[in-house]
Amino acid sequence: MEKGLKRSCVMVVVAFLAMVHVSVSVPFLILPEIGTQCSDDTVGNFTQLLTNLSGSPGFCLVIGDGNEIAGSWLIPLTQQAEIACEKVKQMEELSHGYNIVGRAQGNLVARGLIEFCDGGPPVYNYISLAGPHAGIAVLPRCTTSDLLCGIANGIGNGDVYSDFVQDSLAPSGYFKDPKNVTEYLKGCKYLPKLNNERPDQRNQTYKDRFTSLHNVVLVLFQNDTVIVPKESSWFGFYPDGDLTHVLSVDKTKLYIEDWIGLKALVVAGKVQFVNVPGNHLIIADEDLVKYVVPLLQDQQSAAPRLNRKTKEPLHL
Ligand SMILES: *[C@@H]1O[C@H](CO)[C@@H](O)[C@H](O)[C@H]1NC(C)=O
Ligand SMILES: *[C@@H]1O[C@H](CO)[C@@H](O)[C@H](O)[C@H]1NC(C)=O
Ligand SMILES: *[C@@H]1O[C@H](CO)[C@@H](O)[C@H](O)[C@H]1NC(C)=O
Ligand SMILES: *[C@@H]1O[C@H](CO)[C@@H](O)[C@H](O)[C@H]1NC(C)=O
Ligand SMILES: *[C@@H]1O[C@H](CO)[C@@H](O)[C@H](O)[C@H]1NC(C)=O
Repeated sequence: MEKGLKRSCVMVVVAFLAMVHVSVSVPFLILPEIGTQCSDDTVGNFTQLLTNLSGSPGFCLVIGDGNEIAGSWLIPLTQQAEIACEKVKQMEELSHGYNIVGRAQGNLVARGLIEFCDGGPPVYNYISLAGPHAGIAVLPRCTTSDLLCGIANGIGNGDVYSDFVQDSLAPSGYFKDPKNVTEYLKGCKYLPKLNNERPDQRNQTYKDRFTSLHNVVLVLFQNDTVIVPKESSWFGFYPDGDLTHVLSVDKTKLYIEDWIGLKALVVAGKVQFVNVPGNHLIIADEDLVKYVVPLLQDQQSAAPRLNRKTKEPLHL
């Protein structure tokens, strides 16, 4: 009788712990596309929609205090990634780890967080929507008629791999001219580092950090005309010197020589290459439910437990 009572107490405790365990949802962070801000309808509704669908708390990260839209164009990505890193470290909600959903250029900030952010909380799942991961061969043009656009487009007309353009126009940090790869590797300040492209400067830490992701979803939009080539969303790109063919990801050196751990993740079955119909960033709710939401739900059981003090994973 007493034994039975004890046992059921134990069972209650176990059940309770199990409940606590699964009900702790991992928060997610949205990193928006260029020319938008967290309070925009598009980005704000998207964050809210994913929160509604997943039941996990969602946050959207602002870069460029006071003017996020200008910041997204005019703050170089190296600095955007540093700002994001500092902000994330100050967000108590993310301190036990988080998932990321990146939108277009926001994906390069996302990968900066994953690869470069020393002392930041761990990133578990990473979902990329239209990320220009292997670069873009056409610089985006700012399309409104305000002063900001005038400035951004004016800068974009300069010598794109000069220090001046690199330091003043965010997209120049991932513009990769297939006809001028030597200059790209020499002058481009962000993407070659992010992709460990320079043979003499590969950093194993970036690779280790990227490889530590639990799951990656790379979404390509079939009618994307903003990301050129659209296959860049899957790490595909033009071969050097050629603007007519596109190499699929598995034919690129980044993949074959595994500069950042993408191949290791693919081999481990942790990457989904998804393509959806539609234009740049236009994704149906059903596709979000199918490809994005599952990675934002109940990931706590998949996440390593962390030591409370050091935030290092516990080896159980
Ligand atoms: C965002 O949500 C608001 C309120 O639900 C709605 O009025 C608005 O049309 C939505 N905007 C977009 C771009 O979907
Ligand atoms: C999210 O849910 C709230 C509360 O049910 C609702 O008011 C809001 O319109 C929903 N937003 C979106 C974008 O689905
Ligand atoms: C290659 O890039 C350099 C530096 O941006 C530029 O001066 C040069 O004109 C470019 N060459 C071609 C063929 O586009
Ligand atoms: C590689 O990156 C890590 C993390 O930022 C840094 O501590 C280390 O010094 C870098 N190594 C080299 C060889 O640059
Ligand atoms: C994609 O583009 C093709 C060709 O222009 C068009 O027929 C199709 O309707 C587009 N699909 C979507 C979902 O926009």
